[in-house]
Amino acid sequence: MSGLSAPKGTFDVLPPESARFLAVRDTLTAPLRRAGYGYVETPVFEETAVFSRGVGESTDVVTKEMYTFADRGGRSLTLRPELTAGLMRAFIEHRLHTGPLPVKLWTVGSAFRYERPQAGRYRHFTQVDMEALGVDDPALDAEVVALGVQGFRDLGLTDFELLLTSLGDATCRPQYRELLVAYLEKLDLDEETRRRAEINPLRVLDDKRPEVQAQLGDAPLMVDHLSDSTRAHYDAVRQHLTDLGVAWTEAPRLVRGLDYYTKTTFEFVHNGLGAQSAIGGGGRYDGLSAALGGPDVSGIGYAVGVDRTLLAVAAEGLDVAASPGVQAFVVPLGTEAKRLAVRLVGQLREAGVAADTVYGDRGLKGAMKAADRSGATHAVVVGDRDLADGVGQLKDLRTGDQRAVPVGDLFEALRTAVGN
Ligand code: HAM
Repeated sequence: MSGLSAPKGTFDVLPPESARFLAVRDTLTAPLRRAGYGYVETPVFEETAVFSRGVGESTDVVTKEMYTFADRGGRSLTLRPELTAGLMRAFIEHRLHTGPLPVKLWTVGSAFRYERPQAGRYRHFTQVDMEALGVDDPALDAEVVALGVQGFRDLGLTDFELLLTSLGDATCRPQYRELLVAYLEKLDLDEETRRRAEINPLRVLDDKRPEVQAQLGDAPLMVDHLSDSTRAHYDAVRQHLTDLGVAWTEAPRLVRGLDYYTKTTFEFVHNGLGAQSAIGGGGRYDGLSAALGGPDVSGIGYAVGVDRTLLAVAAEGLDVAASPGVQAFVVPLGTEAKRLAVRLVGQLREAGVAADTVYGDRGLKGAMKAADRSGATHAVVVGDRDLADGVGQLKDLRTGDQRAVPVGDLFEALRTAVGN
């Protein structure tokens, strides 16, 4: 019989590494909580239309990477390839636009894309996602971008960059698109690239092949063709970012993998990650709500890849979480001592002390090894003979010092020893 393993492109997060995963996840979300964003959960699967209409029919994400299936009732459902469209669906369904705006939301959870797996690119991954919905104000764009930067800074990351551009909006993108199409038509491109140019010409700018890049040197850029209003919007965003002490790199050729972006668009890239360097990305989207049947409101947000951020943390050699482990450990030797150990650990946990004991028949040596591995600074070792004398041994696991303590005082002695 062959053994079962996690599906291709997925992985398990196990202790002690998982402590780092939690620390990264929580550090990335702390700035959002401090800035008035409210936690939200939406299902990991949605009606397929949420993504085909929301993310865009021309994107790789929708055409090639979605986990789409019919459920037993014949509905077409899709495991979310990203979290924004589902949050917007919830915003519309619960008519949140009728309340105070902006509606500021954050969430964290699984996303699924059928991509070719490689370092930093998985089929199941975790995103921290935030969205500020219902208001189009450049100051809000700056807040969103700055909160993303803050999360990375709080982790101690320094070797990352903010790439920033404006993708225009309905007042200027159509004209620019025509210019770009006319330019691309004159180039020597293969059939598939031509087809791509017809569906979304912007995506050709992002083509990494040298023979394509070589022809794009003087391609028209959106930032040079912004309407007065989107130019003013972009200028204001940059002014606020400067005021907030956030540095950026202008990235006029930045092309995101999702179609809903308008105006401010950005990506966070880390220099220590190789090909999959984007640790986060986002931007404003004017048409997403309407595409999902909602009111004509704008929104802005970003998602950060928790798994990739973990890789970035490792690449910079940062120690984000000395695994907290337990503080106190109880080693019972004998049946009576076992009862005492179970009771003591229960009491300690109730008092807020992280405590553990051994289960199964481990013997003194095995039990002491478990105590050392647990990370506890102090242990109580108690055998039935100690119990007959009415004591247990309180041991400092760092120094090996040991003293007898009356059974009735063990709880207080342990609690005091670990500093709780
Ligand atoms: P995205 O750029 O597609 O944007 O994904 C955001 C981040 O998720 C990426 O920068 C990357 O760190 C991580 N990520 C994406 N795909 C994978 C993968 N296959 N394996 C590991 N990590 C991955 C969005 O998803 C938008 N919804 C962001 C947004 C929110 N825009 C506005 N609001």
